[in-house]
Amino acid sequence: MFKRFWLWLGGALGKLLLLILAVGLLGWSMGEAYYGWKFSGPVATEEEIPAAEARYTQAIIEDAVRIVEQHRDNTRVLRDAHAKAHGCVKAEVTVLPDINNDLRAGVFSEPGKTWQAWMRLSNGNAYPQFDRVRDARGMAVKLLDVPGEKLMRSPAHLGEQDFVMFNHPVFFVRDVAEYRQNFAAQANGDKVGAFFPSLDPRTWEVRHLFIALKTLAPAPDSPVNTTYSSISPYKLGEANIKYRVIPDPQSCPPYERPEQNTALPNFLRSALYQQLSLDRVPACFALQVQKQNPAHYMPLEDTSVEWDEDISPFVTVASIKVPAQDFDSREQNLFCDNLSFNPWHGLPEHRPIGGINRLRKAVYEAVSAYRHQRNEAGTALSSSPSP
Ligand code: HEM
Repeated sequence: MFKRFWLWLGGALGKLLLLILAVGLLGWSMGEAYYGWKFSGPVATEEEIPAAEARYTQAIIEDAVRIVEQHRDNTRVLRDAHAKAHGCVKAEVTVLPDINNDLRAGVFSEPGKTWQAWMRLSNGNAYPQFDRVRDARGMAVKLLDVPGEKLMRSPAHLGEQDFVMFNHPVFFVRDVAEYRQNFAAQANGDKVGAFFPSLDPRTWEVRHLFIALKTLAPAPDSPVNTTYSSISPYKLGEANIKYRVIPDPQSCPPYERPEQNTALPNFLRSALYQQLSLDRVPACFALQVQKQNPAHYMPLEDTSVEWDEDISPFVTVASIKVPAQDFDSREQNLFCDNLSFNPWHGLPEHRPIGGINRLRKAVYEAVSAYRHQRNEAGTALSSSPSP
């Protein structure tokens, strides 16, 4: 009697599993077909600014400042995102001697030119949590002594060209309206509401939920051993591009990275310290750009869509070398905390474009000004250790 019951139950569960698998596969292939149809070209080559964007931007700034205060915990006021640094290191960015003619613009105009720079490596979270927690990892690079009129007139950033990236190729929202909805829900601790704002399935952002889950990835073995993407688009002279920084170990002396104890809270800083300060081995990267091909689906106003590399491959424009150095001092860590990176610190030839970048212009400036004022920090670069 019992045997028959168990056999029946086993069979029923097997069929249920098969049914779930079939429904899952059907859903997945329908999704693929839908996005294949929806994400097909051509696309605009100019920005398209929705009417409500300014209103949403203001609301986002208010939520961002609220988050900064929520995470303070009796510490200094930290960044609203990428609060924890693994270190700020000196770097040299050298334009390729044989850079393609059509990519020579802005800081890449002069083949062979070397720029001195600061590089800040970070975790993405607003709270400085243990490195082993799944997270995005950030890289921000600031070229110094860059001549020419800049997009933002702030005297503190007049000589700077910033590149701000994290290590995933796409963002978990498409535009400012969606960011407003998602961020407001998250600021109120409503993680489900961030991607499922109502019972109406047309408002569900399942694809973006998957992007968010993939973005929160396990840590690399070192902050210099992962690829960082701009995600959002920029001008490069007349062209529309995205950029990224990829590790280029072949351009540096061979180095076998010793395994770190990932149970330690700051093992990414330790890995950096081990390579640059103890083993005295530099780290090398390539800075690459990808041009928009508007005949294909490479939109300017949707940061959740990756531009297809088969259609438009990334091309190297500069090399980045992080020399062996001592970076982990009290003075330099404080200086690092007081730096402000912003994709809008830079030349008009590198102007950020698209909704998420327009939003970042207002938010980064507001949050940076707020934390500097609360920490009573002076102008960051005026008290810098020399690069
Ligand atoms: C393309 C997508 C984005 C990328 C690649 C990105 C990357 C980064 C990185 C790497 C940092 C740390 C910079 C540093 O080391 O100081 C940062 C900081 C920050 N991000 Fe983003 N971010 C993106 C989108 C956004 C958006 C949409 C917002 C909000 C509107 C935002 C708000 C901030 C804020 C407030 C800071 C701290 C600014 C400061 O206090 O100096 N980010 N971001």
